Amino acid sequence: MPVRDRPDVIVIGAGIIGCAVACELGRRGAAVRVLESRDVGGGATQASAGILAPFIESDRSRSLRTLGAESLELWDDFVARAVVDSGRDVLYERTGTLEVATDEPSMRRLEQTRSALLAAGVECRLLRAEEARAAEPSLGRTVGGALLIPSHGFAGVAALTAALRQAGAARHGVSFQTGVPARRIRARPRGGMAVETAAGTLDGDAVVLAAGSWSGGVAVEGGAPLPVRPVRGQLLHLAWIGEPLARVVWCPGCYVVPWPDGSMLVGATVEDVGFDERATVAGMAALMEAVGAVLPEARNAGFEAVRVGLRPGTPDDLPLVGPSASAPRLVYATGHYRSGVLLAPLTARLVAALMLDGREDPLLAAVAPGRFDAA
Ligand code: GLY
Repeated sequence: MPVRDRPDVIVIGAGIIGCAVACELGRRGAAVRVLESRDVGGGATQASAGILAPFIESDRSRSLRTLGAESLELWDDFVARAVVDSGRDVLYERTGTLEVATDEPSMRRLEQTRSALLAAGVECRLLRAEEARAAEPSLGRTVGGALLIPSHGFAGVAALTAALRQAGAARHGVSFQTGVPARRIRARPRGGMAVETAAGTLDGDAVVLAAGSWSGGVAVEGGAPLPVRPVRGQLLHLAWIGEPLARVVWCPGCYVVPWPDGSMLVGATVEDVGFDERATVAGMAALMEAVGAVLPEARNAGFEAVRVGLRPGTPDDLPLVGPSASAPRLVYATGHYRSGVLLAPLTARLVAALMLDGREDPLLAAVAPGRFDAA
């Protein structure tokens, strides 16, 4: 994959993934141009709660847990570098998560998760109802127990994305062009790649497609549309007036992220409604019901805002990261579904190693785009 000493790479998409990849490629010496159809971070990224929790619901996919755990290890450096290189502040807390159970079956599931995590060397602790309420006094009487995982955390995603953009532009020579949709990617007959946009054609040595839910809308010469579909998530921003929560609380039907300024993010719906980015009464009501059942004080919170994002889902809920089978110097970094923020530093590292060192990390096997014919 490495094409020359200072390859000219076009990154399509400036969400958290595109910005992290662009920054890493630029830091490692590539000349990077980023194309974005909206504003930087204006897609799913702006609606993300920023939870970093690879060990919650990790029984659903062993591969995702492995990738998430690897990426979590990179977060301290990832944020520190973005802060230093941009000169901006980024909210980043590793205060843990408390996953609560409200009935016997979910308590049994937490017990199984605890055993599996301890066997894998992940620190965690099962709390009885009264211990859980001692840890988080705002929990209601419906809570029968909880699993505490101290290594988890959360980040302020909008500030982090802005910091990556600033770091990329100011320190690593990355240029950003917003409001320009990419239409088609093709190989040039004499080498190099071309990206056709609404504002003309760009030439480069290589292309990274990181357009999230919109990746399938960028045609790739010789390839079928990517199997990436939008999955709507609605997220409430509330002004919390109860006892401050000490950590992320994961409940049946929702999660809660407590910001130090007293506000609280409550997410998120999971809706298969195509490219519909509206907030709905039903979505907000479902979130309010779920959060109120576990944190009764949430019913008295102030309403600040609702955000809506379209997560890029794939048929097996795993991302698409790696070289395209149909275009020689096209690399995919998309389809991260519910884990885009968590997996951003790992994706950036894997893509840069592939493109600049020609090194195909074994971790790429589970997310190889070639597992789907179209890619
Ligand atoms: N990453 C959490 C969500 O997708 O709702």
